[in-house]
Amino acid sequence: MTRMQGIEPFRVMALLERARELEAAGRDIVHLEVGEPDLAAPQAVTEAAQQALADGVGGYTPSTGLPALQTAIADRYQRLHGLTIDPARILITPGASGAFNVLYLVLLEQGGGVLLPDPGYPCHRHFVQLAGGVPMQVPVGPDSHYHLSHEHLIRFWKDDTRAAVVTSPGNPTGTLIEAAAFNQLAAVCRDKGGYLISDEIYTGLSYDGQPPLCALSLAGADPERTVVVDGFSKRWSMTGWRVGWMVVPEALIDPCRRVMQNLFISSATLSQQAALAALDQDDYVAEAGAEYDRRRRYLLAELPRLGLHIPVTPTGAFYVYADTRRLTRDAEGFCQRLLEEAGVALTPGADFGRHRAAHHVRFAYATSMERLQEGVARLADFVGKYGPTPPSP
Ligand SMILES: Cc1ncc(COP(=O)(O)O)c(C=O)c1O
Repeated sequence: MTRMQGIEPFRVMALLERARELEAAGRDIVHLEVGEPDLAAPQAVTEAAQQALADGVGGYTPSTGLPALQTAIADRYQRLHGLTIDPARILITPGASGAFNVLYLVLLEQGGGVLLPDPGYPCHRHFVQLAGGVPMQVPVGPDSHYHLSHEHLIRFWKDDTRAAVVTSPGNPTGTLIEAAAFNQLAAVCRDKGGYLISDEIYTGLSYDGQPPLCALSLAGADPERTVVVDGFSKRWSMTGWRVGWMVVPEALIDPCRRVMQNLFISSATLSQQAALAALDQDDYVAEAGAEYDRRRRYLLAELPRLGLHIPVTPTGAFYVYADTRRLTRDAEGFCQRLLEEAGVALTPGADFGRHRAAHHVRFAYATSMERLQEGVARLADFVGKYGPTPPSP
């Protein structure tokens, strides 16, 4: 397989393009497909950016990031999780995406595989492949809340497997992994001499009293074998600022730094200055979470009424992953028709892998309550017009 074979386009982007065409032709489209917060970034962030501009912010920062930002992130881990982390282990990257690319380049230097959940965030499998590794997609379902379990790891781990990925809260499912299950994963990774990669980009956006979890705070986590990837995009609504970070074991600092120096020299200085002002905005995160939770509850009440089954109640991020089988077994076709006929954009399951992909759609509730209600009303009309197909045996 060549490097580019298997690098699939985001189907949601094709849908988005079509949605834009329809909008250009005067149609009103309800966007429930894109996982991007509709909220404005904290005011403190914009003010910090304005101040940095006024101060004449200019050149590169060190490749590993603005030292003040590394320290402030370490302080936040101390404050929220009681963790003492050497700021040198915190590497600032252009988004969480930048962190994953660096990490996979380092971990997969000699090839090898990475265990990933299917369904899961699609970029992981593409990043792994671009770095010369093999994405090992494991079908996961409601029984493990759509996360890899330690049984999966034991069953699918091969001699050249290098790591396993957990995203909690998850994309596309919005489900959380329990601490005990996380500990078991960490133990297998440690025993196998591999790494547990914890994608924590949605940590802190969790509901129903679920506390934010950091893999490094778990009893079973081995700091030499656990990598946490996080960023500012989601809970501080800073997608376009492109700042993320990873907390790496001591032994990975130097190889990651060398890759970062070459790959992008440094993350954007202005964005790092602005991000510094986000870290103490706990009230902002709490308010954003409360707003997402309101929308989540609305969808959880409405979607089952329309024939969309939600196998595991999502308690994090801003996604609902719904089983469409009572309505259709062709989720992609359903999404296309829904867009053309009803002006509602959803993401088909096929964007997140292969496992039961044709039977699922993802709702992103990163849009206002009014638009969400409009989307649900249109969906109800659409479903009413065609009627549900009988449940499958
Ligand atoms: C699970 C997951 N990880 C990582 C990312 C990338 O985040 P960033 O904007 O920080 O690159 C996303 C973005 O949607 C995501 O859903």
